Amino acid sequence: MLLQHKKLLRLLQQAYSAEKAAAYAYIGHADSVRDLKHQQLIHQIEIDEWNHRSEVLKIMQHYQIPVSTFFEIKYGVIGKLICASCYVIGWFMPYYFAGKLESGNVCEYFA
Ligand SMILES: [Fe+2]
Repeated sequence: MLLQHKKLLRLLQQAYSAEKAAAYAYIGHADSVRDLKHQQLIHQIEIDEWNHRSEVLKIMQHYQIPVSTFFEIKYGVIGKLICASCYVIGWFMPYYFAGKLESGNVCEYFA
């Protein structure tokens, strides 16, 4: 089945790639906290992000929507930068950007 709604198609491509950015950010976030219990809980959130990504991919495959190379690179770089910054700045970066990414994702799903 083909999806004829270009804006929704693009939002799904963006959501798929943004889930990767969020997962990368949570990797850095987990490593930036000292408490082992907190690390495990944050790691579970990372796993949730990978699961969200695979669910979005299923929807995209159902409607024969290709993965966007542009969004994959863009959000891959964003996620890796946030991840790396967690090792330098500490807990503030993951809290701020994870919240920003997640709120963006929620807005995409509403749209
Ligand atoms: Fe997510």
